[in-house]
Formats: sequence, C-alpha cells, structure tokens
Amino acid sequence: MANSGDTTTLKNISSHCKEYGFIYPSSEIYDGLGATYDYGPYGSELKNNIKEYWWKAMVRLNENIVGIDAAIFMHPTTWKASGHVDAFNDPLIDNKDSKKRYRADVLIEDAIAKIEGKIDKEVKKASKRFGDSFDEAQFTATNDRVLKYKGQIEDIESRMKSALEVGDLAALKQLIVDLEIADPVSGSRNWTDVRQFNLMFSTELGSVADESGKIYLRPETAQGIFVNYLNVQKTSRMRLPFGIAQIGKAFRNEIIARQFIFRMREFEQMEMQFFIKPGTDATWYEHWKEQRIKWHKALGLGEENYRFHDHLNLAHYANAACDIEFNFPMGFKELEGIHSRTDFDLSAHEKHSGKKLQFFDNEENKSYVPYVLETSIGLDRMFLAVMSSSYTEEKLEDGSERTVLKLPPALAPVKVAVLPLMNKDGLDEKAEEIMKEVKLDFNAQYDAKDAIGKRYRRQDAIGTPYCVTVDHQTLEDDTVTIRERDSMEQQRVSIPELIKTLDEKVNIKTLLKQL
Ligand code: GAP
Repeated sequence: MANSGDTTTLKNISSHCKEYGFIYPSSEIYDGLGATYDYGPYGSELKNNIKEYWWKAMVRLNENIVGIDAAIFMHPTTWKASGHVDAFNDPLIDNKDSKKRYRADVLIEDAIAKIEGKIDKEVKKASKRFGDSFDEAQFTATNDRVLKYKGQIEDIESRMKSALEVGDLAALKQLIVDLEIADPVSGSRNWTDVRQFNLMFSTELGSVADESGKIYLRPETAQGIFVNYLNVQKTSRMRLPFGIAQIGKAFRNEIIARQFIFRMREFEQMEMQFFIKPGTDATWYEHWKEQRIKWHKALGLGEENYRFHDHLNLAHYANAACDIEFNFPMGFKELEGIHSRTDFDLSAHEKHSGKKLQFFDNEENKSYVPYVLETSIGLDRMFLAVMSSSYTEEKLEDGSERTVLKLPPALAPVKVAVLPLMNKDGLDEKAEEIMKEVKLDFNAQYDAKDAIGKRYRRQDAIGTPYCVTVDHQTLEDDTVTIRERDSMEQQRVSIPELIKTLDEKVNIKTLLKQL
C-alpha cells in the first residue's frame, strides 16, 4: 500500500471517495440501498479512464479482437443453457430467532477463522515467553495445542468441501450444528435447514406476470458474447483465433455484500471471449495470463500487489482457471478471472437453440465448435484496486500533512489544474486563456479560489497529476510552472511547450506503449 504510516483501511478510502465526489451510497437521501453505489463526478471520470485503457488494450491493440454492446435482457433460455438457472446458487441458512439470513459456507469459514485466531494467540504467547530465540515455524509444527487446532481446521474444511461439491445441504447444516455455530447477532443456535438460493435477479417481460414471462438481469456479460458469436464472426469476417470484448453491467443478488465496492449487487464487468481451435487452449491460456498481468503491471500500482491463484476446484465449464489477485486493504482477493471454458457454452447454446454455432476450418476442411478462453475483470474492483493503492496520507517536512491520491496519471480524473497565483494584475485573464487551450486536450480544472497551498491540496486529494501556475513572470516571458503531484517539484516551461509536456505524461498511450 502506498502509504506512509498506518495501513490504509477500506473505511478511509470509502470516506475519501464520498468526501471528494468519487463514490456515494446509492439513493443516500433514503438511507442508501445495500451494496449499490453511485459514481460521482471524479469517480465516473476515473471509471471511464479505466474502461478506455482496457478497451484500447483489447480492441485497438489486437487486430483480431472486436467489441460489442449487448442488451442486459436476454432470452430466458440463455440462462438455462449457461447453467445459471440450475447452478448459480449460494447455500443459505436462516436463524429462526433473529430472522437473519447467512451464507452457510461463510458461517463455517468464520468458525475456521476463530480457530485460526486461537493459533495466533498461542503463537503470540509463546513469542513473548521465548523472546528473540522464538522460532515460529518450529513452534507451529510441534506445539500440541496448535497441532490440535490445525487438525480441527483440516477436518472442517474437508467436510465442507465434500458437502459443497455434491450439494449435500443436510451435511452443511450438520456441520453448523456440530460446530455449535451461533448467530453472530443474537447468539441463538436455532437454525433452519440450508437451502440453495439462486443469485440471479428476475423480473417480468411486458404484462405477463407468470413463469412464462420471467426474464433475468444478466449475472455476467459473457453470455451476450456467446449468443452473438456467429453474428460477429460473419459480419466482421473473422477467422479463428479471434476475440469479442464487452464492457457492461451485471447483476447478482449477493447475500453477503460488504467491503464497499468489492462485492456489489449491480456492478460492471469487462470481459473478453477468445475463440480458438480445440487443442490450442493450453497455449492461449498461458498467453492471456501473461497479457493480462502485463496490463495490470503497466499501471505501476506495485508488482508485489499481484499474484496468481490457480483454481483447484474447477467450475463445470472449465478445464483450467485462475484468478489474478490484488492486495486490497483486506488482503489478497480476486480481481480478475482467466478461464479456459472449452466448448461448454457454445455447445450448450447449440443444443438449446437448435442453431449451429461452429467454425468452418479451411485447412482442416471441417466444421467444429470453437473452444473459448475468457478474461473477466470487475470494473468496480479495478477501481478499488487503483484507489486503495493510490490513497496516501503523508507527513511533509514542514510538519504539515496531506492526503494525496497517487493515481497513475493516465487514469486521473483531472489531468491538469490551471491556477492563477492571484486573481488580479491580469494573471486571471492569462490563466483563463491557457485553460481555454488545455481543455481541448485534457480534462482540466480552473481554480482561482483560496491560497495557492490550499488549492494544491485540493488537487492532491483528487489525484490531479499536474498543477500549472500562472504568475507575474508568465506575463513577462510566457512561461508557467508545472507542479508534479507526488514529488511536489516545480519546473518552468514555455506555454507553447505545455501541451506537449503534459501529453507525454498523461496520455493513455503511455500505458499502451508498455503492452
Ligand atoms: N464470466 C465469468 C465470470 O463472471 P466471475 O469470477 O464470477 O466470472 C468475474 O466474475 C469478475 O467479476 C470477478 O473477478 C470480479 O472482479 C467481478 N465480480 C464478480 N462478482 C462481483 C460483485 N458482486 N461485485 C463486484 N465485482 C464482481
């Protein structure tokens, strides 16, 4: 975390986002709506810049990838074919006394975390007792109490894993009973049975209010790509391998929706399905893993903040899958998924629609259903990754403090602030002239209110990488100072040079060139 001093918490970030117009709780005047957020003036600019970086990296840099923008509503059979109607579930349990609802697996994971807490306590106690000679690895490998706790954890994990794998809801309930898990709110152990709860939101089409008119809000954008595979392949005259990219909203009725914009009920995905010849999937899987991590690292958020996590338990459609995890304030968590989806989706849509979704391979002189390599990243999660690694509270040499968003300049919502040192002597008019010029190229902000130091702080807080100050010397020699956000260093440049200097630093090209 780019932070001097205390660890950045999610709370600091969400408060900063609200105070400076990045993100507000949705419909806040009515006390908000759980796990839904609105992006404010700076938030929507930053979000658009992330989208632009992704879109250009995918669609513009790869001549064999094209973009689409499919509807959110889709024919309901889509979700039968994709497996979401039958299998997109969370196991839920209700407490009969508190009437609160929980995810059964999360209750069990919390119980595991409690046992892990006991191990930590033993380690701390022993470390105090033994002082400098304490060897933690040896202690946890040999101490009886720690070994007993570790054994308990292994046993719980293995019971939970096998219950989830076969969908044995009674076994999950029994585990909750055996572990004597109590409702965190009421302390009651009066639980209902565990039930499967589908995460898709449904609504009715037109005036039909029965099952026949039931449609869903898409839980992933990917299916909009699969059902358009043939349309796009034909109209874009694409041959394998080729990709279809899309950015759009997805909706999931998440039960445990907390941690700010990490898990939302309405969110945005940036997905790309890459259609390939069967048998080439392992090569393309490695290719896209490499490409995607490069895209992330070019942002300069810290290489140590990323890691791959391979899925051991593969989803029914995948023959290989991994996550790119990011070091969020609450630890390493999934930011993006890379999935080798075989021909699962296209074959399922062929079966349910009765339409052929194949590719005629001239070299092989035969048709087949392509395999698919998917990259899928949550835009809001990416926003949180950028925000949390950029948010910095700094103590300056003169003893003062500043909060600065050290955003990658190409993603910053405002690229340049134009500041007349004083609002008189013609400095304001000169600054307005410069503003007129720079706003044609960059999102620029003019600010003439308050002392210059206060104006710099305001720009630091929204992550503006450059402040241009117009002073008396400007009137004499047509030069301005450019103050760089992170170093706070100032440099004098001539006005004709200004646009070029800024462009070299803030243009999204600076990122794309690294890919
Ligand atoms: N088409 C594949 C797919 O949807 P996923 O792992 O379920 O895969 C992909 O989701 C990405 O979407 C995740 O890595 C995450 O960044 C984002 N995502 C998923 N659920 C989310 C939620 N409730 N809120 C915010 N982002 C979410």
